[in-house]
Amino acid sequence: MVKRVLVAGGTGRVGRIVVQRLHDAGAQVRVLSRGRHRADSASAVQYVTGDVTTGAGLAEALDGVDAVVACVDPMDHLVPAALAAGTPHLVYISIVGIEKVPFSYYQRKLADEKLIAESGVPWTVLRTTQFHDFVGAGLRMLAKSPVMPLPAGWSFQPVDAREVGAALAELALGEPAGRVPDMGGPEVLSVGELAGLYLAAVGKHRLRVPLPVPGRVGRAFRSGAHLAPDRAVGAVPFARYLDETGGRF
Ligand SMILES: NC(=O)c1ccc[n+]([C@@H]2O[C@H](COP(=O)([O-])OP(=O)(O)OC[C@H]3O[C@@H](n4cnc5c(N)ncnc54)[C@H](OP(=O)(O)O)[C@@H]3O)[C@@H](O)[C@H]2O)c1
Repeated sequence: MVKRVLVAGGTGRVGRIVVQRLHDAGAQVRVLSRGRHRADSASAVQYVTGDVTTGAGLAEALDGVDAVVACVDPMDHLVPAALAAGTPHLVYISIVGIEKVPFSYYQRKLADEKLIAESGVPWTVLRTTQFHDFVGAGLRMLAKSPVMPLPAGWSFQPVDAREVGAALAELALGEPAGRVPDMGGPEVLSVGELAGLYLAAVGKHRLRVPLPVPGRVGRAFRSGAHLAPDRAVGAVPFARYLDETGGRF
């Protein structure tokens, strides 16, 4: 039977990969985002407008779907809307270590995970490390100044959003699995190493200075709470991602 899947946030970095993978696997795909979408009867993917922060358009978007992949947050409107729509399988992307890093966005995602797990909706949650594009965008911003400040003692384990999108699509086509094993990129690199790779890829020279980040969030990142070295399952290293994109992302 053809699965009907809603991808909330399906025009975003990871969402659009999920959409492509589901479509390639023969699913009937609907995409929800806030943008206005032109009706295109030739497109195999249906685009609908809605907002997960207000609940607008969610009932229509969820109508008749077997699964929802949430590549967006928060979940406080989407979860009740899914319950009302006949409890489709809800697949949610979360972030490694959110219970250990007292960063407000992470705390909100932790609350979303709890809401989903206690809602009665059949669910699957995949936590991943930061995407290559996200780390790259951060480095690009820091490299704007001739002196590049780098959070002292921090490392990242960037993962390719294409691999994450493929994993989410596969989970949406499978049975609800609860919290599945975390997904991390293939290597943990210090911000100094990441900055070196980025600067070489874009052909820039910058004076790199370590910036001590005070407070509990700074400490949590220094402790590596957001890393999953024992789940280094991603295949695409940051250097290859930079090669492929030439640092333009
Ligand atoms: N980026 C990372 O490194 C990373 C790592 C691990 C987990 N994640 C998680 O992955 C998810 C997606 O991240 P991403 O980087 O792919 O995000 P993104 O590129 O910013 O895409 C967000 C998507 O959600 C839509 N959207 C945003 N606000 C919305 C709203 N209020 N109602 C409906 N749609 C909305 C956006 O389209 P419109 O703007 O048109 O609405 C877009 O399609 C997030 O939950 C994030 O926490 C990200």
